[in-house]
Amino acid sequence: MPKRYLTSNEGAPVTNDQQSLSVGQRGPILLEDTVFLEKISHFDRERIPERVLHAKGAGAFGFFRPYNSLASLTKADFLQDPEKVTPVFVRFSLAGGSLGGADTVRDIRGFSVKFYTDEGNYDIVGNHIPVFPLRDPIQFPDLVHALKPDPVTNVRGGPIAASRFWDFMSLRPESINFLTYLFADNGTVKSYRTIPGYGVNTYKWINMRGEEVYVKYHWEPCAGVEYIDSKTAAMLAGTDPDIARRDLFDTIAAGQQVEFELRIQIMNVDDECEQPFDPLDSTNIWPEDLLPIRPVGKMVLNKNPDNFFVDVEQAAFSPAAIVPGIEFSNDKILQGRIFAYGDTQRYRLGVNYLALPTNMPRKPADNKMQDGAMQTMYNEGVANYLPNTLGGGTPMPAPVIGKPAQNHIAGCIVRKEIGGDIYYQAGFRYRTMSAMQKKHLVANIVENLSQAYEPIQRRMVEHFLRTDSELGRRIAQGINLMI
Ligand code: HEM
Repeated sequence: MPKRYLTSNEGAPVTNDQQSLSVGQRGPILLEDTVFLEKISHFDRERIPERVLHAKGAGAFGFFRPYNSLASLTKADFLQDPEKVTPVFVRFSLAGGSLGGADTVRDIRGFSVKFYTDEGNYDIVGNHIPVFPLRDPIQFPDLVHALKPDPVTNVRGGPIAASRFWDFMSLRPESINFLTYLFADNGTVKSYRTIPGYGVNTYKWINMRGEEVYVKYHWEPCAGVEYIDSKTAAMLAGTDPDIARRDLFDTIAAGQQVEFELRIQIMNVDDECEQPFDPLDSTNIWPEDLLPIRPVGKMVLNKNPDNFFVDVEQAAFSPAAIVPGIEFSNDKILQGRIFAYGDTQRYRLGVNYLALPTNMPRKPADNKMQDGAMQTMYNEGVANYLPNTLGGGTPMPAPVIGKPAQNHIAGCIVRKEIGGDIYYQAGFRYRTMSAMQKKHLVANIVENLSQAYEPIQRRMVEHFLRTDSELGRRIAQGINLMI
């Protein structure tokens, strides 16, 4: 092996980066000590902003393969042929906590998948809870503010945190379905290998004939679904706060594969208004008895990141990253997400974030966007504009593949709350739980809600009573509230 010698970031030989250059042994240090100045100033800039949410995560590389051709439903190139293997990168995360949080706390787990397809990157940025607490993305900053530590003390837990959380949720009761997942054992997890993933939002698939269907994504862990109870979660948060991150890394390092099956639910676009629930409302699941779930492919994770910061921290997922054959629905939450991710990533990572190793599409980008901080690509030639003749007219507009869908939207411009029932699915879910699941759900809510101020408790119990009278009564009893 050739010998490796220390250099500066300019590549110049460095003979000593352990002792600073000083007047005599005891200083002062000279301003001309470029070795010291470079080392310390690079260190001073090691941290980048953490994600505004989903800050703590773990990732792995692997591949995806469909079981059969899905050509009848979508023209997406990576779903046409069961022989086609598409590389993926996956990041699991905790939604609410910050970088130093514990892996087992009650929280939403993020489940983001980047498919490096031959037609560009396709991201499914999902969660491990199938529903979302809101119906309108303009409320998202309020939700995150209410979940994060308060702006006065920045303290997690305790009466102020509980009051802020339940204050918000009780005034946004469309969150109730989501709360029945978060406060069940689903909310406490010790391994990313055993959680499901859900796209939550509704997307559209379009085939070569221009026919569209609505689609919902589900990831099923092949190792089976496993949650832990709140006592185990609290204990592990103290003794092994990185347990889920370590478990994923160690499993793959030991040569074992981590596998998930991709399953979908499909709905004809024309049936949207025929359903007994609003299929584009992210607070709802699509009931499986009405819209069956079908397996369509398998994802295998088999390679750990070579460097956490480069591969995982700098990863940028976005629901806006779609490929031909996949489109957005009018789901308002999805519409809001289309903007938010790229916007925050331009701030968090810089405008050239898609040129970073994990984010770079395997099919090279070719357009006339240029420059900006940290640009490393060379724009070829003088014709940095379109249309041109000096650059041979390239790149040319990509050909349209297949027949495009015909969509027409008309309506009055309003700022209006989306209506619709908010209690039915949550109540149904409670009534179909086992006695043990009900007990844990009630105990977990009681533990948290009991810390909130009384008028907020009262408002929240009203919503639980409307969800299911038994659920509401058990919670009221648990927190000693007369109803
Ligand atoms: C109004 C709705 C939403 C908005 C505005 C929003 C916005 C954001 C933002 C700004 C980030 C940080 C991204 C980054 O720094 O790279 C993020 C991360 C994330 N969001 Fe959302 N989000 C919304 C809803 C959802 C929903 C419904 C899901 C699940 C289906 C979801 C799943 C995630 C995940 C998994 C991450 C972490 C991505 C990663 O691993 O890097 N979000 N979100």
